[in-house]
Amino acid sequence: MSLSEKDRKYVWHPFTQHFTIGEPLEIISAKGVYLYDSQGRSYIDANSSWWVNTHGHGHPHIGKAISQQFQEMDHIVFAGATHPKAVELASRIVALMPNNLEKVFFSDNGSTAVEIAMKMVIQYFYNQGKKRNKFIAINGSYHGDTFGAMSVGQRGYFNKPFESLFFDTTYIDFPEKDNEEYVLNQVKAFLEKENYAGLVVEPLVQGAAGMRMYSAYFLDELIKLSRQKGLKIIFDEVMTGFGRTGKMFAMDYCHEKPDLVALSKGLTAGVMALGLTVASNEIYEAFLSDDIGKALLHGHSFTANPIACAVACANLDLFEDKETWENIKRLSSWHQMFQKELTDYHFVEKVRQRGTILAFNIKQTEDSYFSDIKTRIYHFLLKKGVLLRPLGNVIFFNPPYSISKEEYNQVKTGIIEFLNQL
Ligand SMILES: Cc1ncc(COP(=O)(O)O)c(C=O)c1O
Repeated sequence: MSLSEKDRKYVWHPFTQHFTIGEPLEIISAKGVYLYDSQGRSYIDANSSWWVNTHGHGHPHIGKAISQQFQEMDHIVFAGATHPKAVELASRIVALMPNNLEKVFFSDNGSTAVEIAMKMVIQYFYNQGKKRNKFIAINGSYHGDTFGAMSVGQRGYFNKPFESLFFDTTYIDFPEKDNEEYVLNQVKAFLEKENYAGLVVEPLVQGAAGMRMYSAYFLDELIKLSRQKGLKIIFDEVMTGFGRTGKMFAMDYCHEKPDLVALSKGLTAGVMALGLTVASNEIYEAFLSDDIGKALLHGHSFTANPIACAVACANLDLFEDKETWENIKRLSSWHQMFQKELTDYHFVEKVRQRGTILAFNIKQTEDSYFSDIKTRIYHFLLKKGVLLRPLGNVIFFNPPYSISKEEYNQVKTGIIEFLNQL
């Protein structure tokens, strides 16, 4: 049996309708920005393997961290015990955060990192005898696929079967450039009517909604209004963190800082499953009590897995190397140049870029995840040696930062050839 046949027999894939889907790609190795299939073909990883990979695949510094940590210790329980790499990672993450964020809670993916942040906010109020448990979120947001994360995300096709079980959330309109003031007024009106617990946002770029970008000005104003009413602010930096937007975190573009931050994806250079929720001391202190019931009674088997923590520390070493920042800057400048060329096409719209993310829409009567453009460009580019998975009619290019000019141009040429034959 081939790999695909065995896969079909035994595996259930994410976001996949197995009744209609074709054969999966048989990827058997990866190095740098390249993925290699079982037929010996190579593909440039133009979306960084679900937006996680930062320095390319198989980075030797990351590999060394994995093997060294494995020699020392593979895994331990993280309740009632600690280990050096968890403490090192927590202290290094805190050093990168605004001053108010001082405590790090470990989990193992982006959804849980957000879910935990929301639980912290709800229990922060609960522990003080206050009933505030409702969140404000922005239309189109995606925070993951666990129930809490879905409850503050975009409702619709992806989560319809579960909708009756979601908790209530207030959604504000997406802040396009020309309606920011309107949305801020909308926020004011909501805040007058109810006592919310928190605000949860993907700062500056909504990933799954189609790399939709909005301004730091809007986010600052939104936070100011929310803070006046005592809301706790959660930044979901799962996608935007670790250089993706051109700075270490999207919050580095803002004056107003969050009370909690969710991290994952680029946290381990896209190599190990790890999530972090970083909380302010003020939130943390609301859990201190003689009463065990006031503690955050939450955890996962692989909480603070030592190998994942060692990899995250090695990732931070690479961010201390100026080459990483030069790569990010170079990639951003190539995107800026490519962006100009894209505006020549009358059927291309909303060309946008923030740091290492370039995105544009192919004009359709309605923007849709189910647009056939997605499949057409996917297969077209595969033949050109590029793996790029659009979000419906939104085409976006967010490769590992280490991509070379030649590799970049291969993707760019593939996209242009696709546009020319549309
Ligand atoms: C902004 C954001 N938050 C949360 C998640 C969920 O992360 P995970 O898939 O690791 O659960 C994602 C995943 O794409 C994301 O983009």
